[in-house]
Amino acid sequence: MIPKKVTVIGLGYVGLPLACAIAKTKLFNVCGYEISPEKAALIQKGISPIEDEVARKLLPKIKLTVSTSDEILRDSDFIIVCVPTPVKNNKLPDLTPVKSATRSILKYLRKGQCIIIESTINPGVCEEIVLPILEKSGLKGGRDFELSHCPERINPGDPTWDVNNIPRNIGSLTEKGNARVAAFYRSFLKGEVREVSNLKVAEATKIIENTFRDINIAYVNELAKSFDLMGIDLLETIHAASNKPFAFMPHFPSCGVGGHCIPVDPYYLITRAKKAGFNHSFLRKARQVNNSMPHYAVSLLEAKVKEAGLVFSKVKIGVLGLSYKANIGDLRESPSLEILEILASKKAHVKVFDPHVPVKSDVKTLDELCAWADVLLLATGHREFAAVPAAFFKKHGIRVILDGKNCLDKKALLKARIVYKGIGH
Ligand SMILES: NC(=O)c1ccc[n+]([C@@H]2O[C@H](COP(=O)([O-])OP(=O)(O)OC[C@H]3O[C@@H](n4cnc5c(N)ncnc54)[C@H](O)[C@@H]3O)[C@@H](O)[C@H]2O)c1
Repeated sequence: MIPKKVTVIGLGYVGLPLACAIAKTKLFNVCGYEISPEKAALIQKGISPIEDEVARKLLPKIKLTVSTSDEILRDSDFIIVCVPTPVKNNKLPDLTPVKSATRSILKYLRKGQCIIIESTINPGVCEEIVLPILEKSGLKGGRDFELSHCPERINPGDPTWDVNNIPRNIGSLTEKGNARVAAFYRSFLKGEVREVSNLKVAEATKIIENTFRDINIAYVNELAKSFDLMGIDLLETIHAASNKPFAFMPHFPSCGVGGHCIPVDPYYLITRAKKAGFNHSFLRKARQVNNSMPHYAVSLLEAKVKEAGLVFSKVKIGVLGLSYKANIGDLRESPSLEILEILASKKAHVKVFDPHVPVKSDVKTLDELCAWADVLLLATGHREFAAVPAAFFKKHGIRVILDGKNCLDKKALLKARIVYKGIGH
C-alpha cells in the first residue's frame, strides 16, 4: 500500500531536507511536527531555518504543512522521527526527545501505520524503548503496525552528498514491513536503499560509522601531539601516506571534534555495551583524546605567544569561528565554544568572529577583528577565513596565528614573518 500522508517529526538538519525530498515527488501529503514555533513559522513561509541547500531550494516550491501541535500526526500512514539524540552533561545518552516524540505518536497510533526512526540511536533503542511505549496502545508491533529504523547519514554543507543520493540501510520488526518501508524510500531517493535483516543491525550501522570516524580522528590527533614534539609535519606525512592505493584512509588532526554526531554517538554504543557487560576502553580513549584537543590548541597558542616575545595575559586574542565545522552555523558540541571557555578561565582578552553566526560574534567583520587583535586562533575552517591572504594578516599587525584547522597558507604566513602553528603542522 502506498502511503498517502507522511509526517516527519522534528524539522532540523535531518528532518527538513527529508520532508522536502519526499514532498518534491508530489506523491504524498507531507506534514511536519516541529516543537519550535520559530522554526515552524519560518518553514511555513518557505524559509529554511538551517543552512541547507536542498531545503533552501525546495522549500519555496513544495507543499509542506507544518504544525507545532501533535494533532498533525493524526491519520498519518508513515511517521518519521528525526528528533535530536544528544548526551547529558555526564555523557550518558539523552533519549528524552525520542521518548517524547514516541509518546506523541502513541496518541494517534492506528493499525497499518509505519513508524520509522531516523534519529541516530544505539542498538536496542527501537525494541527496548520505542516499541514498549507504542504497545501501550494495545496494538502489537509487527502485526498491527510496523517499526523501522532508517538512519540518516546526511553531512550538512556537503555539496556532493545530500539527502537524495546518500545510500540508506533499513531494518524493521518484520521482513514484509521492511520491504514496504524500503519501497517508500526508493520512491523518493536516488541512492541505494538496502534492506538489512533486523532493527539492531540498522541501529548499529550508523553508530559504527560515526565511531569509526571518531577513533580515526583520535589517532591523528594523538599523532599530532607526538609529531609536534618530534618536529615532523603530520599533514605532509598524511598526504604522502595517502598515495598508498589501498588500506590507508586519510583523516586530519584539528583543534577538536564537534557536531551532533561524532562526539556524541560513540557514547550511545559505550553505554549500551556497558549494560551488556562490555567495556569499550578503546572508544573511551578515542573520546578522551578528541576531547583534549581544544586544551591542546590553547596550550600551543600560549607557547607561540611566548615564542613571539609577547605576554599571554596581555595579548588580544581574536578567535576565528564559532561553529563546529566549515561553512555552516551549527554550534552543537563546537570545539570553538570550549576554546572560548578555556581562554575565559585564563582571563585572556578575547573577541570572536563567525560570519555564519553573526548574532554571537563580538565584531561585524574579519577586518574589525584583525584590527583589534594581536594574535589569532582559527577554530573553524570557514571559506571566508581559508581564502584570506597572508598580506591581510600582516597589514593588521597580527603576530601569531594558531591554525586549529590547518587551513591557512603556512608557507606564506611564515614568509610574512608571522609566527604560525597548525595542529601537527
Ligand atoms: N546533523 C547531522 O549532521 C546529522 C546527520 C545524521 C544524523 N543525525 C541524527 O539525526 C537526529 C536529528 O538531528 P538534527 O541534526 O536534525 O537535529 P536538529 O536539532 O537540527 O533537529 C531536530 C528538530 O527536532 C525538533 N524536536 C525536538 N523534539 C521534538 C519533539 N518531541 N517533537 C517534535 N519536534 C521535536 C527540534 O526543535 C529540532 O528542530 C539526531 O539523532 C542526529 O544524531 C544528524
